[in-house]
Amino acid sequence: MTRVLHRSIAHNHPVAARGSGMHIRDAAGEEYLDASGGAAVSCLGHGHPDVLAAMHAQLDNLAYAHTSFFTTQVAEELAEDLIAHAPRGTSHVYFVSGGSEAIEASLKMARQYFVEKGEPQRRHFIARRQSYHGNTLGALAVGGNEWRRKQFAPLLMEVHHVSPCFEYRGRQQGETPLQYGARLAQELEGQIQALGPDTVMAFVAETVGGATAGCIPAVEGYFKRIREICDRHGILLILDEIMCGMGRTGTLHACEQEGITPDLMAIAKGLGGGFAPIGAVLVGEKVFQAFEQGSGFFQHGHTYLGHPLACAGALAVQRVIRRDNLLANVKAQGETLRRRLNERFGNHHHVGDVRGRGLFQAVELVLDRGGKEPFDPKHKLHARIKQEAMRRSLMVYTMGRTLDGIRGDHLMVAPPFIVEARDIDTIIDRLGDAVDAAIASVS
Ligand SMILES: Cc1ncc(COP(=O)(O)O)c(C=O)c1O
Repeated sequence: MTRVLHRSIAHNHPVAARGSGMHIRDAAGEEYLDASGGAAVSCLGHGHPDVLAAMHAQLDNLAYAHTSFFTTQVAEELAEDLIAHAPRGTSHVYFVSGGSEAIEASLKMARQYFVEKGEPQRRHFIARRQSYHGNTLGALAVGGNEWRRKQFAPLLMEVHHVSPCFEYRGRQQGETPLQYGARLAQELEGQIQALGPDTVMAFVAETVGGATAGCIPAVEGYFKRIREICDRHGILLILDEIMCGMGRTGTLHACEQEGITPDLMAIAKGLGGGFAPIGAVLVGEKVFQAFEQGSGFFQHGHTYLGHPLACAGALAVQRVIRRDNLLANVKAQGETLRRRLNERFGNHHHVGDVRGRGLFQAVELVLDRGGKEPFDPKHKLHARIKQEAMRRSLMVYTMGRTLDGIRGDHLMVAPPFIVEARDIDTIIDRLGDAVDAAIASVS
């Protein structure tokens, strides 16, 4: 009997009791290897002593102060820290308590930016199919996953969706990656023209597509073209780095690898590493100045903006990542992980693609490698893989509806940045067995 309304009513999850390093132990004493940081959250693993010490110290001084009365030293320090390492042209940070809130704030910031600038006719957002930006209504509306949107569709604002940059599924035969990226950019240009360029506020995209399509990096040149199109039409570029950012792909921000700077960037998971709920919008100078020279006020707010305990945790997480040079480990172990995934699954009859960047890797499952045909969704292969992995004391993040919001299965491996080669060996052993057992159960 439980009084918690769980994600699934018929849940049968173990009770998580302790966390330490790469592991979570349940109340029965079983120890799970966390190969996905939950949902690509726990970038330092569990129970990191430096983060805990910083949070304890903050609690001893001040747990909470409402931001309409006070600022706090810890929020100021975290903002300084984030701006010091943000893409050039980013000038301010708006703190929230999670990913969806960061997207909601970004959307409202974009709208208010154009009102401040005297362009109130700009009202359209363009985003991508198969994207995920969160579950609150604004974030769900810009998201492009059909299944997630369907039953709430009557509540969602109108958003226009273009194709994702999903090379495995979208690049045509005979098309080079560069040509594919150019075709997608042209699709965005066409959508902008159809709506009227001076009615569009922003284009919203995950820099590396995350949960719903499974770690899809853009092809070379794609984001440069997108940035150029947005600039040409005075449209803001909002990047969602809630899952792929804050070091997960090997650079602090995934957009560094694309050679572009967004106008607004949403970050969350790896910002606080799960030690406390926190998210943020990194705000470009241009947007900030419009507010500063306009109303002097962002018409938004939540009770827990810039929560001191969450800021203390996030600041400690970011300092440990730099002190311990963990991004170098993300790159090195990311390569090891990719190599080991390819060794185990590269010739697997039911694996169509292994893809991703850094410690953000996905495996897409198919009926047969050659045809790319997905499994029948009725089997819920992704859920079976998760179950088989948990049986083997392994946490991996699995998801269905990979292709189009209906069909497809993938799994994501996104371990903490402290992962070592021997952990990867264990991950691959257990994952390989889990995948084979799940497939056997539907064949
Ligand atoms: C890319 C992306 N955007 C937004 C969100 C929503 O974040 P939250 O669950 O913290 O609201 C997620 C969560 O998985 C995400 O992966």
